[in-house]
Amino acid sequence: EEAAEDEEKPTYSVATDNNYVPFEFIDQETDKLIGFDIDLINAIADEAGFDIEIEQMEFSGIVSAIPSGRFDIGIAGMTITEEREENIDFSQPYYDAGLILAVLDGNEEISSIDDVDGMTVATRVGSTSEDYLQENTDANVEAFPEITEAYRSVLTERTDAVLYDKPNVEYYAETEAGGELVTVGDLLQGEQYGIAFPKDSELRDEVDEAIDSLKESGKFDEIYTKWFGE
Ligand code: ARG
Repeated sequence: EEAAEDEEKPTYSVATDNNYVPFEFIDQETDKLIGFDIDLINAIADEAGFDIEIEQMEFSGIVSAIPSGRFDIGIAGMTITEEREENIDFSQPYYDAGLILAVLDGNEEISSIDDVDGMTVATRVGSTSEDYLQENTDANVEAFPEITEAYRSVLTERTDAVLYDKPNVEYYAETEAGGELVTVGDLLQGEQYGIAFPKDSELRDEVDEAIDSLKESGKFDEIYTKWFGE
């Protein structure tokens, strides 16, 4: 009986990244893909009654693959921007983020974004942080293929600072960096994450409704607390 039910469920392809703590990353112990986005998309699929097949790829690849229709859904801590909205339909916002600057502990030269002109600032290629640095500062921007390389470049003093999404910087600072990486200055640009769909996808409304239900049932909060605390 259950097998018959399963067969009727549609399966949708989901594009995500695996290098973005705590939204999607590989668990060192189990080698499995875990994180807030992964729990959320699984809960949404359960709620809406579809199956998912997750494919891992590099973040900027997701931003370009979604418009082409190669995947039904993209979830990767992707900021909703006007530019992306030209080619991508987004779900309702599901996470409030924003950009924050971080430096090596003890750095006395940089205490805010106003101090980065002429300095080398690391970030991830194709991110809203890369755009922010190009548009708002005279820093030398070093955009790495993976954000962990950007963090390491600051820890090894190859670059002076890193700009990236606050939840990712904070999580990395507390875990991997063990106190060596510290955030400085204010949140620079408020951003909201949305789940991405090809333009005019009919799935978008279904996913939005599922998010509403998860919020009403308390399941959304449960997942949020699991990854971000109270
Ligand atoms: N929020 C930023 C953006 O949308 C960075 C997202 C990075 N996400 C990832 N899975 N690597 O550009």
